[in-house]
Amino acid sequence: MASFRTVKGFRDFFPEECALRNYITETWRSVARRYGFVEYEAPLVESTDLYRKKSGDEITNQLYCFLDKAEREISLRPEVTPSLARMATARQRDFKKPIKWFQIGPCFRYEEPQEGRGREFIQFNADILGDSSPATSAELIALAIDVVREFGVSADDFIIRLSNREIWSTFLADKNIAEEHTTTFLSIIDKIERARPEETEKKLALIGLTTAEVRAFMASTDENHPAFAALRENLTARGLWQFIKIDATIVRGLAYYTGVVFEVFDLKHGLRALAGGGTYDKLCALMSDGGVDMPAAGFAMGDVVLGILLKRTPGAQMKLTSAYLAASSIDAFVVVADEAQRPHALAAVQSLRAAGIRIDYSFGAQKVGKQFQAAEDRKARFAIVFGAEYPEVVIKNLLARSQSAVPVAGLVEEVQKLLAEPALGPLIA
Ligand code: HAM
Repeated sequence: MASFRTVKGFRDFFPEECALRNYITETWRSVARRYGFVEYEAPLVESTDLYRKKSGDEITNQLYCFLDKAEREISLRPEVTPSLARMATARQRDFKKPIKWFQIGPCFRYEEPQEGRGREFIQFNADILGDSSPATSAELIALAIDVVREFGVSADDFIIRLSNREIWSTFLADKNIAEEHTTTFLSIIDKIERARPEETEKKLALIGLTTAEVRAFMASTDENHPAFAALRENLTARGLWQFIKIDATIVRGLAYYTGVVFEVFDLKHGLRALAGGGTYDKLCALMSDGGVDMPAAGFAMGDVVLGILLKRTPGAQMKLTSAYLAASSIDAFVVVADEAQRPHALAAVQSLRAAGIRIDYSFGAQKVGKQFQAAEDRKARFAIVFGAEYPEVVIKNLLARSQSAVPVAGLVEEVQKLLAEPALGPLIA
């Protein structure tokens, strides 16, 4: 018999991974809403041309692309920004500017799977369209910081590396380097810390530059550079400038960025970027053949690197553990101690569930001990026992090991009351 595995780079989500995924996406959603962003979604599949034209070579080489049955060239989305630009330009008149939208969903890139990289991952995108002033970049960076902090990851654990592509445009203009070399130059800078020095030197020489002059310029670019003044003022007012490190090597692999660019990195584990983004003032115009000139800025965060970081960061582990517990536990387990009471127990199961209480029970006759074991396994706070005492039922608090008997008519209200109390009851008896 053939044994099937997941397709390379794809993931199964067993309950534990599902709990992690839901915890991450629910946290993203709640912080984005706190910042006044509104949710949208784009198609999972787009025409391959959309990415060929708008994302640049790096992403195009990683496209999960194929011909559909009508021989159309289509791709699973590697990112959402081109779709967003397409959607926003198509109906830009319908929305007040600035548009603040967020999105959460899977993306696909045909990359070599490794730590922090898969062929399927979930992205959280937050974008502002119709304004790309430093105030919008500051708003996005603040959102990125607050999202990461919401998971219990602190200022000791992560940093935002920030730059501005315009700094390099000015540098190239000062050196009289033709504009056509900009893309090549930025891709050299993007890889400068990873590439072999001789390689970098050779590539720079081809466009008339030396590593020494590029490195000297990088070293002289710090937070006092005028390109960061407004952003610095804004983030300082919010008490968030401490999260920023100016780093001229951050240029971002995607073709469409025009100004501010940033990436979020952990500080202790050397993981790949948690998130990245920047301003892209020309993408909407490109998308609409010049029809809609709408500046924009945004970023995306992936779930894979974030998930690794949360598992390794002590400050984040407690929240993660309670998310796992909340996903798999129930409030109460109904124990049928006397099978003659099963119809009454089933009626109570339905009433308790209708009141929003999470209930489970065993499907058939089972020893009481086994049912209590099942209650513990499901991490139930209470066991509700239907036995010979009916119409009285016994509510056992499985954590505090206490119990009380109530008439079945008042059961729902009693369980609601007990659930509202702290899980372990009063600490001092
Ligand atoms: P990106 O830097 O290509 O930007 O991706 C953003 C994040 O997605 C990365 O920092 C990483 O966490 C995650 N990611 C990317 N590729 C993979 C992969 N193969 N496996 C796991 N995680 C991955 C963009 O996609 C831009 N569209 C962001 C943006 C939004 N810019 C403006 N608005």
